[in-house]
Amino acid sequence: MLDMLMKRRSIRLYQEKKVEEEKVQQLIKAALLSPTAKNIQPWEFLVVTDEGLLEELSKSKNSGSGFMKNAPLGIMVIGDSSKTDVWIEDTAIASTVILLAAEAMGLGACWVQIRERKHNDEVTAEAYIKKLLNLPENKRVEAIISIGYPAEEKAPHKDEELKYDRVYYNQYPEGL
Ligand SMILES: Cc1cc2nc3c(=O)[nH]c(=O)nc-3n(C[C@H](O)[C@H](O)[C@H](O)COP(=O)(O)O)c2cc1C
Repeated sequence: MLDMLMKRRSIRLYQEKKVEEEKVQQLIKAALLSPTAKNIQPWEFLVVTDEGLLEELSKSKNSGSGFMKNAPLGIMVIGDSSKTDVWIEDTAIASTVILLAAEAMGLGACWVQIRERKHNDEVTAEAYIKKLLNLPENKRVEAIISIGYPAEEKAPHKDEELKYDRVYYNQYPEGL
């Protein structure tokens, strides 16, 4: 697990190769196994392989989402805000689980933040997507996880970079 966490990096460039249906199903299974508060499971997942839709979704934000147009797969993580007040935490955990499952399967993935982000000065990224997909008010879009076979290599994280100075034991340091 720690080896995998050291190697996992955000991958934004993908090979043209499709993600096999079996792997898509494994990613969805992983997402559905995510823990949720009170086991309410307020999430929904929209699996996107349609090139046209991926291109539209890549325009959700003016930066940080464009690379999705070249991804063979996106998994949109939606939370039902009418079911729980902690849908943000629950959808963030599911998004993380998808990222880690993708890494374990030899895929590359990157989180594309949607909630609280802008499409332009007038329209939020979430409003843009809700209109595109006709989503009701209570179905909130947390993120889209962009996934594919990696076409870029990134150095793994290094022990020296880890912020151990932000970890305290038994007592919070004075003056921080
Ligand atoms: C909550 C969250 C939101 C993120 N949003 C975006 C995003 O919108 N676009 C993007 O390209 N990367 C996004 N990322 C990826 C981060 O930039 C990346 O995880 C961070 O720089 C650390 O790099 P690493 O994932 O390679 O370790 C997001 C990551 C998280 C956890």
